[in-house]
Amino acid sequence: MVENDETKFEPADVLRMFPTFVWKAELKPEVHQRINGTIVRTLDQIRRSLPELAPGQAWQSDQALHKLEGFRELVSCVNDTVTSVLEFLKIVCDAFEITGFWANISATGAGHGMHSHPNNFLSGVYYVQAHEGADTINFHDPRPQPNIIRPPVTELTAENTDQVVVKVKNGTLLVFPAWLPHSVDANSTDKPRISIGFNVMFTSYTEKMSKPLW
Ligand SMILES: [Fe+2]
Repeated sequence: MVENDETKFEPADVLRMFPTFVWKAELKPEVHQRINGTIVRTLDQIRRSLPELAPGQAWQSDQALHKLEGFRELVSCVNDTVTSVLEFLKIVCDAFEITGFWANISATGAGHGMHSHPNNFLSGVYYVQAHEGADTINFHDPRPQPNIIRPPVTELTAENTDQVVVKVKNGTLLVFPAWLPHSVDANSTDKPRISIGFNVMFTSYTEKMSKPLW
């Protein structure tokens, strides 16, 4: 409801439209503890010949971790979640596929600037090690128009903000539109932050999904 002159108006409604969603799932503790243990061991193995990260440094693996046995259970959780998201959006889709699946390790002081993931439909992050001080991700208003005029506000709300900070923890799985800009603040702790990023696209995009809608 919005305040209005009661002598002239019926109470007004606010119509919300074109929502931007971020899907937030939490794996059960016994599941994420098992998955995260396997992932940490697998990443240690992958990184065994690499030097430890210095403060401010971040490391990213190659983009095909979904093909490794050590990530099988997480891949299955991602596929289940993406299926739910596509159902939620009422999308008609025969098959989708993971087009990239990579690990991010950020040492103290390392963050990640604003970016999006072109040429995918959905993107996501899973948190393996996200402790206090390294447990947020920022999503930015994807609409360019509101940035033209940003008057001062008495309070930041969902209606007037240009950034939403989402708190995460070990076992959080986020899925969001690949076009949604996001960034990560610098890790302010002395432990590395470990997350797994991924992208998803329709398998038969050009054959089936991109046909003109008229
Ligand atoms: Fe990203």
